Amino acid sequence: MKYYILFGPPGAGKGTQATAMTEKYNLRHISTGELLRKEIAAGSELGKKAKSLIDAGSLVPDEIVEGMIESEFRTVRDVAGFLLDGFPRNTAQARDLDAILAKTGEEVTGVVSLMIPDETIKERIRHRATIEGREDDAREETINNRIVTYHDKTEPLIGYYKDSGKYNEIDGLGTIDEVRSKIFDLMDRF
Ligand code: AP5
Ligand code: MG
Repeated sequence: MKYYILFGPPGAGKGTQATAMTEKYNLRHISTGELLRKEIAAGSELGKKAKSLIDAGSLVPDEIVEGMIESEFRTVRDVAGFLLDGFPRNTAQARDLDAILAKTGEEVTGVVSLMIPDETIKERIRHRATIEGREDDAREETINNRIVTYHDKTEPLIGYYKDSGKYNEIDGLGTIDEVRSKIFDLMDRF
């Protein structure tokens, strides 16, 4: 199995680009954010635990998202690989992902990182708020805290994956089509 990480700050276009990537490369898209929002909508215990943290723009506990990821790995079979969107989100999750994959003698195939400046993050999330109605897009304070959480907890992963030679960065500015074509060029070289 291939294991691709689609990396980037909030609003970078991960979800937007994931659809075309999964179709072209026969991958299963796993967005931990989307899985958590489904749990919240279903009113599950896990969803109740996650809701206040997501609304605050903080990360939910590692074991919650890691459990969801591992269960997808173990149950999904009819694909060439997985496209991880929003996971890992800190170095502990990256190490745990390596350990989960090592159990079956596998490893991360490559990281595709979409980079945009903080100002663009805000513009895109404010725009999406008018369309999708995500609760964590509704308040300026939540958006700001997601950006702080990204720089503080998630950005260090760039160094982690550079060290293993798996990090590849793409400029996330430009039209959706332009970014997609750069992603495809990169994916074709993996
Ligand atoms: P998550 O759902 O992962 O949110 P996020 O990382 O903040 O990322 P977004 O979904 O906001 O951005 P995106 O990159 O997918 O952008 P999109 O394509 O929609 O996580 C939510 C929360 O869940 C977290 O805050 C945390 O609490 C929790 N969580 C999730 N995973 C976790 C983990 N592993 N550990 C702990 N907690 C976790 O694009 C944004 C907008 O821009 C859209 O409107 C789109 O149409 C537009 N757009 C996209 N590309 C372009 C372009 N090229 N030009 C113009 N507009 C564009
Ligand atoms: Mg998303």
